[in-house]
Amino acid sequence: MTALPILPAGFRFGASTASYQIEGAVDEDGRGPSIWDTFTREPGRIRNGDTGDVAIDHYHRVEGDLDLLAELGIHDYRFSIAWSRILPQGTGAVEPRGLAFYDRLVDGLLARGIRPVPTLYHWDLPQALEDRGGWLSRDTAEALGDYVGVVVERLGDRVRDWITLNEMSVQTLYGYALTDHAPGRGLGFGALPAAHHQLLAHGHAVARLREAGAERVGVAQQHFPVVPASESMDDLVAAGTFQAITNWLFADPILAGRYPEELRPLIPLDDAQLAADLELISAPLDFYGVNYYEPMLVEAPREGTDYAGAAEVDLPEGLPFALLPYPSEERTDFGWAIAPGQLTAILRELRERYPNLPPVVITEGGASFHDGPGPDGAVHDARRIAYLDAHLRAVADAVAAGVDVRGYYTWSAFDNFEWAAGNDERFGLVYVDYATQERIRKDSFAWYRDVITAQPSDR
Ligand code: FCB
Repeated sequence: MTALPILPAGFRFGASTASYQIEGAVDEDGRGPSIWDTFTREPGRIRNGDTGDVAIDHYHRVEGDLDLLAELGIHDYRFSIAWSRILPQGTGAVEPRGLAFYDRLVDGLLARGIRPVPTLYHWDLPQALEDRGGWLSRDTAEALGDYVGVVVERLGDRVRDWITLNEMSVQTLYGYALTDHAPGRGLGFGALPAAHHQLLAHGHAVARLREAGAERVGVAQQHFPVVPASESMDDLVAAGTFQAITNWLFADPILAGRYPEELRPLIPLDDAQLAADLELISAPLDFYGVNYYEPMLVEAPREGTDYAGAAEVDLPEGLPFALLPYPSEERTDFGWAIAPGQLTAILRELRERYPNLPPVVITEGGASFHDGPGPDGAVHDARRIAYLDAHLRAVADAVAAGVDVRGYYTWSAFDNFEWAAGNDERFGLVYVDYATQERIRKDSFAWYRDVITAQPSDR
């Protein structure tokens, strides 16, 4: 393999995690329950009945985990803050022990020369807010703003980079339209208010962060490149509709201050209210976070075809689009298509669509391969190395094509609780033995460290 292409000087390498996926300690230090605590206790929701109750026990092992991150040599560490550790009921009383945990985490990162990049909301909504309507309620957006105010007041003297929400599209689609993720509502198009209220929450968060003098503010959005199954008009229209729902519904309001025209009628707000909301939502950002995993192949539903189980997401019948597996010879052990060229494509598409696109950071990218320790005790995950290598090259291609990409954060630093798929899916550079909580550096750990060391730096 040739040496990795050189990315621009100052390009930032990082790794990402999220609170519910790693912390465990769900009943400790006053943490209130979140929708994921509730959801994982419902029979049949999670593969093998796994939960995040213990996860990788990061809450108790934070010092050792930070030492591993320092050894990895990353510039930035993206983690998320659990809202219900800070405000156990979502609003009202603040839990000082929750704040103290993230205080220690931030100090521990800075002491090791790593820049903290917290995500303020990565899907673990306090259950108390879900009980009052969750993201279907406009009040939740305001509650998020107040929570952000509490966090930035405490950490804002040391944290310069902030990510508001993670993948509102996935939470809306999987958690509110379908039933795969918490809170498992299954509302179909009735989920649209959850999209608007998360966007509004983003707007409130940006406003609070700006008031507090935050230096760099961004968002982390899942972008599935949408590929039509053929060039036929029907398939192109179907792909366009799906594209609007998965990508533009969430990106247009932030980056262009509008909703895709065809979806506007589904937003139950009058024009004046919507205009005011969109003004807040579209406040300028310092960076735009893109999470990329795989493309989606979409066609107009063919009569008599049973699409159940065809793609990773099962959509209800009667929709004007159907999902097919993206044709790719290589797949991860999770079954996701490996298509690095589509990362370049979506980055170019974003740049073309949005004249005001801020600098981009790839806030997540990675793969689940199930490799575990071999007879020599090591984890030889050559496929992850190949995956990351190909995707970094795809980023370099996008940069060469004129997209301003400033960083790449791999998902994930450690193996962790992968939502509905439980503990079987392993995305980490560090292997975790769930029985003993032993951490083992995979081969990709050393590889990533060497890539980082080899890059030019103007830091
Ligand atoms: C993303 C999530 C992240 C992780 C990866 C594999 O959609 O943001 O928490 O689960 O997928």
